[in-house]
Amino acid sequence: MIDQLTPVDRAKYAAAHCAADFVQDGMRVGLGTGSTAAWLVRRLGARVRQEGLRIIAVPTSTRTAQLAREVGINVVTLDEARWLDLTIDGADEFDAELTLIKGGGGALLQEKIVATASDQMVVITDAAKEVRTLGAFPLPVEVIPFGWQASKALVEELLSSMDVMGRKSALRMNGDQPFVTDEGNYILDLALERIGNPRQLALVLNQVPGVVENGLFVDIADQVVIGYPDGKCEMRDLSSGTAEISHAQIDLGEVQNAFSDL
Ligand code: A5P
Repeated sequence: MIDQLTPVDRAKYAAAHCAADFVQDGMRVGLGTGSTAAWLVRRLGARVRQEGLRIIAVPTSTRTAQLAREVGINVVTLDEARWLDLTIDGADEFDAELTLIKGGGGALLQEKIVATASDQMVVITDAAKEVRTLGAFPLPVEVIPFGWQASKALVEELLSSMDVMGRKSALRMNGDQPFVTDEGNYILDLALERIGNPRQLALVLNQVPGVVENGLFVDIADQVVIGYPDGKCEMRDLSSGTAEISHAQIDLGEVQNAFSDL
């Protein structure tokens, strides 16, 4: 199976596998959404089945919830868990301060709520997502369907006074229909190219009527685990204010039997 994975998928697998070791018995864990987070969910499922790891988990999307149940993880709602020890999730871009762009998979709203309701958030990623300045990846903004075109126009007008390079936005589509989030909303993808002040932009976007949430995660992530195709992981911990760096190596041969007991 390992031969069938692309280098990027091997890197995502490595990051997820390394970060799964942060999860300890008895923890309440937020489970992210996306292909990297899916590796994490499978790995945690394997630990539940093989090691008897006891966790309760809050997924950030219906697809993560479905996968978590399939692999044997005890899934609860955030209201049932109330607060989480740790959330592990992917990202679309991250910078040196661990400010993130998220929402490429359309789950940014639940992802931000779950991550913010956690003592700790760990980002799992491949190295290509690290950027000096955020914005090459289009910024997802979740809007309610009612009057979405007015919200889009207001967002574009607002961008003219922001420190960004591009100002175009596009309604995310799913075939010939608008993409609809788990909360029944639409997503505008903002082609900004460069975001000079993510903190300011995150605050003002949420002032636009109809905007529910945006995909900028500022001061939410504490650590990043960067995986590499050869199974190496670099872990950067910013929780103390300065980046403490550590390394790990996983055995990619384990991919072969990761799901053998399912
Ligand atoms: C989901 O809405 C996103 O925030 C994902 O976390 C992000 O798009 C990363 O996805 P991959 O892990 O699939 O690259």
